Amino acid sequence: MSSKAVSVSARAFLFFMNRGTAAGHGAARAVRRYHARGAPAGPLGLRTVDLRSDTVTKPGPAMRRAMAEAEVGDDVFGEDPTVNELQKRAAELFGMEAALFVPSGTMSNLIAVMVHCSERGDEMIVGNLSHLHVYEQGGSAQLAGVHSTTVATRPDGTFNLTELEDKIRHGYPDPHYPRSRLVCVENTHNIQGGRVLPLSFLQELHSLADHYGVVVHMDGARVMNAAVALGVSPSVILQYCHTVSVCLSKGLGAPVGTMLAGSNGFVQRAVRARKVLGGGLRQSGILAAAGILALTGMVDRLKEDHHRTRTFAQALKQCDPPLYEVDVAAVATNILCFRLSDPSLSPADFCERAATVCEDEVRVLGQGVQVLMFPHVGGTIRAVWHMGISDDDTQAAAEKLYFLAQQYSKQKSRPC
Ligand SMILES: Cc1ncc(COP(=O)(O)O)c(C=O)c1O
Repeated sequence: MSSKAVSVSARAFLFFMNRGTAAGHGAARAVRRYHARGAPAGPLGLRTVDLRSDTVTKPGPAMRRAMAEAEVGDDVFGEDPTVNELQKRAAELFGMEAALFVPSGTMSNLIAVMVHCSERGDEMIVGNLSHLHVYEQGGSAQLAGVHSTTVATRPDGTFNLTELEDKIRHGYPDPHYPRSRLVCVENTHNIQGGRVLPLSFLQELHSLADHYGVVVHMDGARVMNAAVALGVSPSVILQYCHTVSVCLSKGLGAPVGTMLAGSNGFVQRAVRARKVLGGGLRQSGILAAAGILALTGMVDRLKEDHHRTRTFAQALKQCDPPLYEVDVAAVATNILCFRLSDPSLSPADFCERAATVCEDEVRVLGQGVQVLMFPHVGGTIRAVWHMGISDDDTQAAAEKLYFLAQQYSKQKSRPC
């Protein structure tokens, strides 16, 4: 290792030791962890800005009231009026024949795979950085007996359609080959920082899929963010997919639930798959009531999340000293991925530092700000906006990251 490398990592070490020194003055005084999300600065001058995910939202009073007052029935018998209402509204909104309420996005994607790839060993084609491929425990193989092949996810969340075409198999029923049945896309794209798939890409993909007789499923966990970003109804996006999975429990703020939508025949088969996976719920109208509010009352406000994400990205870009590398033009919705300009600072250590409050910070900023973020794929850090994050929280988080950049720069300029 060169002496330069030693001194750089020594500075990074000191930066984090500084936090430890402050903690050494007494845990209660110097380092505080405060778990309430988006809380305003309290008497101790502490605020938490939870940017880990838009899944951390909690239902507000109106949603809790709707849940408490929901009319319910046995949904496995198809008798829950609130679930039926939610399914009807979702189908209309998405421009699909029917929709089904399921417990989670992971189960919803798996059901779609099971229904589309109905013969054991059928093959689906997915982006190598898709949630379905990376974060769903290989459920398609593990539970559905489905073989996956990948195409390279591009930075904008799309993939090369020629590469896709090359992956579609033509050998079936020759016993050597699986049967290509399904292509999955993700919109917005989580790992690629909330990117919105262009309509032109989806249109071309749809024509190609039709040509080869394969089906397009969209993991649209955040497709409402995509619709808001494009200024179109979700049905405009979803006209290019055969089925879609839309999460209610992310930016839309419901505590539980995902809508899986497609043709009547698809949803009938999805009901069977949901049951075998243990996702047939009984009086789930209590949850569906929150889902109705999520779809009817929470969509318009997503633009506020997008605006705050961009404001924060611009603030990081302007930070002096420049510790953050941000591509503001790539910020499309509520997810920001950024890098640290000093490779000797690890994203995991930085996130830990951002989540910690020290005495110096309280003195300089007038409050302690705990910013929660996750280290992300490819050495980046991910921050996600949602209804629990206000303009004030966004500003406080930016000030905290400025403070950290200054602290780091001071450490760097000191001789080691
Ligand atoms: C793009 C995407 N798809 C699917 C899921 C899975 O959703 P769930 O956590 O409800 O299983 C997530 C969760 O974050 C996601 O980001």
